[in-house]
Amino acid sequence: MCGIVGYTGKSSAAEFLLNGLEKLEYRGYDSAGIAVLHDKSFEISKTIERIETLFAQTSNGNNIKGSLGIGHTRWATHGAPSLENSHPHLSNDRKFAVVHNGIIENYSVLKQELIDDGFQFTSETDTEVIPMLLQKYYKGDIKAAVTATLKKLEGSFALGIICADSPETLIAAKRFSPLILGIGENCNLVASDVTALVSHTKNVIYLEDGETAFLTPASVEIYDSEGAMANKRISVIDWDISSAQKSGYDHFMMKEIMEQPDCVKKTLESYNKNGEITLGNIKLTEQKLKKINKIEIVACGSAYHAGAVGKYVLEELLRIPVNVELASEFRYRNPIIDSNTLTVVISQSGETADSLAALKEAKKMGSHILAVVNVVGSSIAKAADDVLYTRAGPEIAVATTKGYSTQLIVLYLLGIWAANILGTANKEQLKALNDELPLIPQKISKILSQKSLIQDIAQDFANAKSIFFIGRNIDYAVSLEASLKLKEISYIHSEAYAAGELKHGTISLIEDGTPVVALCGCKRLHDKTLSNIKEVGARGARVLACVADRDFNFKDDKIKTLNFPATNPLLIASLEVIPFQLLAYYVALQNGCDIDKPRNLAKSVTVE
Ligand code: AGP
Repeated sequence: MCGIVGYTGKSSAAEFLLNGLEKLEYRGYDSAGIAVLHDKSFEISKTIERIETLFAQTSNGNNIKGSLGIGHTRWATHGAPSLENSHPHLSNDRKFAVVHNGIIENYSVLKQELIDDGFQFTSETDTEVIPMLLQKYYKGDIKAAVTATLKKLEGSFALGIICADSPETLIAAKRFSPLILGIGENCNLVASDVTALVSHTKNVIYLEDGETAFLTPASVEIYDSEGAMANKRISVIDWDISSAQKSGYDHFMMKEIMEQPDCVKKTLESYNKNGEITLGNIKLTEQKLKKINKIEIVACGSAYHAGAVGKYVLEELLRIPVNVELASEFRYRNPIIDSNTLTVVISQSGETADSLAALKEAKKMGSHILAVVNVVGSSIAKAADDVLYTRAGPEIAVATTKGYSTQLIVLYLLGIWAANILGTANKEQLKALNDELPLIPQKISKILSQKSLIQDIAQDFANAKSIFFIGRNIDYAVSLEASLKLKEISYIHSEAYAAGELKHGTISLIEDGTPVVALCGCKRLHDKTLSNIKEVGARGARVLACVADRDFNFKDDKIKTLNFPATNPLLIASLEVIPFQLLAYYVALQNGCDIDKPRNLAKSVTVE
């Protein structure tokens, strides 16, 4: 996902831009650049290396003068990572510099029209049409030029724009891609997310789709899509920059793995009032809830895997059909949704394009939308009817851990809250869950205290060519997440399989020494999973079985076991996933991979 920063103030723009881009590195990128206005012309610095190269090229920003500028980290969509394709892009007359996050879907048509008008292009990007359109429409009135340009664009954009004729004006425009204003002392800022702003100011304004902001060091003007002045509220960020720093860990991922007990505890507490679960003043009233006859869970990646756990938990507690589906599939299959459907959209970033599009699809069909999101004020949070925030704090590592864990907690709470209203679960079952939930943080801590055991096991996997994770029921849902964690940061091929499904084809891949991880947290299915372990073992697989403490003795010393603390059957995912987050981390460490910024990946995929 691309990252945008912008500065207008009394100090060095380059200093803010470089530090801001550094804070956005976690989003994933393959090139970066800044443009600063100095003496009516733009000073540009770009790289297809890391941000540290920009620091070096500009002597930490000291050799780029000026107090108006924009910066960008690019995650390539149109055109390979190259200096020509990296942002900022300039108009032919070099009056406009632009950075962009999103996709201009009609750029080919616009580009041809502009070429016919005599404009010359140097990149393969969709973005480059924007500065050219600004040049085309600019007759001295910058607002008119911006308005005319935005009207021509189809698709998604978050834009940072500066003009050589307006030495103090920073322009920001938003449609479907996130963009936030930072309201500072003698300066005003723009960024794709708050991590680039919070060390300068905690006062932010979240731009809505269709809004355009014109900032100077002392003023903020925001216009809505009709051109009327928008009256926006200033929000205050409730965490500080230390939360978005490594704090002594080698990687953000390990820091965030270790933060999970606290994040889970904070999330539990945020929905607990005098011992009762409360979801706040959500619009899903008891009356509406009682009419719900189907739940659709829609998400991508690990959020989808949290939803896969949620399916088992919610169906058990609510006795309502729960379908969990990939957002990219849901949005194009003409789903059967109506006003009696509750659609639960799960997203850590709240900016995943497929999940946002699926949300809008379901909303159009009359469904009540409940979002489970980590980033306050994000697009999905704002588009939903109700939002239940996870309290994970900023998650910087591309591979989610605390984001996933706190999503599980919110899904459990939703299930218990709804079951209480619907009367669909017996009192003992609900009491058992309410008694066990507060113990989850300390049980996660217990697993983390033995992380060196996982580091030892990781040695066995570091050179594997392919690893299989198998499980049944909630174990299968967790195996999906365990497999993704491993492959996305260690680049080792891995597959998650419903244990009962293996013999219907994939078992042909099992040969002597193939590592198979059998998740056996679901006690009542132990015997079934054991037979699958025997099947793969008979074909030479090296089996690692993951079981709750003293739950099961396999009586087979060839099977290595990994334990996690026993807990309520509906809550096992919260504990069983932890060893596999650690396993992925240590295997990737062993293989020398870039753990926080895995190749080709972005923290949030804001394009289709
Ligand atoms: C998980 O480790 C990955 N970073 C990825 O699968 C992620 O979960 C997915 O892109 C969804 O992101 P979201 O939760 O921000 O919507």
